[in-house]
Amino acid sequence: MNVRTGTDRMPLVLAIETSCDETAVALVQGPHVLASEIASQIELHRPYGGVVPELASRNHNLTLPPLVRLLLDRAGVGPQHLEAVAATAGPGLASSLLIGNTFGKALSLALGCPFFAVNHLEGHLLSPCLGRIGSVPPSAALVVSGGHTLLVDVRGAGDYRLLGSTRDDAAGEAFDKVAKMLGLPYPGGPVIDRLAREGNPAAYALPRSMIGSGDFQFSFSGLKTAVHYLLPKIPPPMEGHLPDICASFQEAVIEVLVAKTMAAARATGRKLVTVSGGVSCNGRLRQSMTAACERAGLDLWLCSPGYGTDNAAMIGFVAATRLAAGRSGDPLEGDIDPNLRLESWAG
Ligand code: KG4
Ligand code: ZN
Repeated sequence: MNVRTGTDRMPLVLAIETSCDETAVALVQGPHVLASEIASQIELHRPYGGVVPELASRNHNLTLPPLVRLLLDRAGVGPQHLEAVAATAGPGLASSLLIGNTFGKALSLALGCPFFAVNHLEGHLLSPCLGRIGSVPPSAALVVSGGHTLLVDVRGAGDYRLLGSTRDDAAGEAFDKVAKMLGLPYPGGPVIDRLAREGNPAAYALPRSMIGSGDFQFSFSGLKTAVHYLLPKIPPPMEGHLPDICASFQEAVIEVLVAKTMAAARATGRKLVTVSGGVSCNGRLRQSMTAACERAGLDLWLCSPGYGTDNAAMIGFVAATRLAAGRSGDPLEGDIDPNLRLESWAG
């Protein structure tokens, strides 16, 4: 068993994440991830071009118990060693959230240990801190996932100020919808990322929506519509033009994300920028953000790619920060909330 012992010993947390289409479990101690397992449902939903909620929840119900068993066996940890259980409470698909949340509550009740209901967005937000010792530092944080695009002023663990979000589609949603238009498989983000590497980002002029709006709001639906109107003008066969279309679309998203994140760092005076969520796996975004932070003299913590898309380690880490702040857990009577917003709990 690789559980950490000694003076820096932190409580052992079992974390569960089932907000959408990944069944994920992890064992964490503070920022250290001892073990993490993710059972992806991507193949299950691919024929439908998106997530089918009922299929997702039924699959979580089948997959979660044996996945927890596998996690504990691989780590050499017995249920009696667990000191807290954490599960995502929202936002996400109600029927999917209920599976992990109910399982987590039942486990905590059986073991007599605290239960933490964790906000999925806070999980993404703090995921760049995984593996880093010390308290959560202040930062200007960009969260870019399939469901959300947020800019947050992080003052410390549990102390957040939302600077802006998207008015319509999330960045990842825009990648997925444009990929669908192009006849590419779900999820579209990684496929566009790969194709764009061979393309010219200046091949097609696409809008940088709200780049000059002077606030921290985003909008990606106009860009999606611009791609929709571009496609009939492209001479067949489409295949040969895909790299240029993907690179041009991707650049339009990334330019706005980078420009607004830099503006957020300037406005808040933060010297650290963090980027998390599934879209943070994007190679070009990582490259552009790195270059922009270097130019501005800012530190950059990019979420490690293994923890960019949905995972349970980030959920366990949020619980660990609350334990470190002296919190004793959440009531088992608490409900899930599919529309849960990012809220501060410090103070
Ligand atoms: O964080 P996540 O797993 O789920 C949500 O909480 O929404 O993010 C999934 C999203 C999908 O939209 C997917 O297309 C996108 O992240 N994504 C990417 C890349 N990898 C995943 N988008 C662009 N480039 C990538 N390499
Ligand atoms: Zn997510």
